[in-house]
Amino acid sequence: VKRITTHILQEMKNRGEKIAMLTAYDYSMATIVDEAGMDIILVGDSASNVMAGHETTLPITLDQMIYHASSVVRAAKRALVVVDLPFGSYQGNSKEALNSAIRIMKESGAHAVKMEGGVEIAESVSRILTAGIPVMGHLGLTPQSIYKFGTYTVRAKEEVEAQKLRDDALKLQELGCFAIVLEKIPAKLATEVSQSVQIPIIGIGAGQCDGQVLVIHDMLGINNDFKPRFLRQYANMYEQMNSAFKGYINDVKSKSFPSDKEQY
Ligand code: KIV
Ligand code: NA
Repeated sequence: VKRITTHILQEMKNRGEKIAMLTAYDYSMATIVDEAGMDIILVGDSASNVMAGHETTLPITLDQMIYHASSVVRAAKRALVVVDLPFGSYQGNSKEALNSAIRIMKESGAHAVKMEGGVEIAESVSRILTAGIPVMGHLGLTPQSIYKFGTYTVRAKEEVEAQKLRDDALKLQELGCFAIVLEKIPAKLATEVSQSVQIPIIGIGAGQCDGQVLVIHDMLGINNDFKPRFLRQYANMYEQMNSAFKGYINDVKSKSFPSDKEQY
């Protein structure tokens, strides 16, 4: 199988073919995602929430991201693997940002990194790109800034924030980012940005863009209680897994498992 590259993603945008991106954090899940034909697998710092049970993405460490990323890389034969630089590993110090990105690339074998923010992190983005590491931007509702926002509500509804987002998207393109995630902003703004920049725009809760991304636990319905408007659930894995576990418990207690055929 031929690996998806940042160049192929650009060609997809140029010919109007939508890009499908999904998160994964471990080998087994990433294998299924890759074999289904996903274009991009994101090792998101949402692992902090869905894998580790933290309330926010802030606590996950660079070492933990590298562990998740290396597991996913071993599974991904076709997908481009993008890894989030975690909170505290790149803001404010471009040398530290470069070191963090290099550690991810070297220790996990991933293909690109993703960073939250626009003009504020321009120097770090630039320095990482100079080392030959592809960077995906992330604007709009950037969860590493949740304590600044104070809410998970839609961003850039007002003109001042919308204009900053347009400027940031252009800045990231100019610096050389290969794509940008736009999270939870008005569809009209996201579609406008998708049309005004050349590089692929991947949306989540942002209407029609050049591609879409979701968190795997959310779209599988493993997180039973997370149902925002933008989420489409493709399975109800909570129900399926809950009933599998109950069935197993029942069979163990009733001694129906193991049967004569399930032993040596
Ligand atoms: O960490 C993550 O899962 C993400 C996506 C929601 C874009 O950054
Ligand atoms: Na993230």
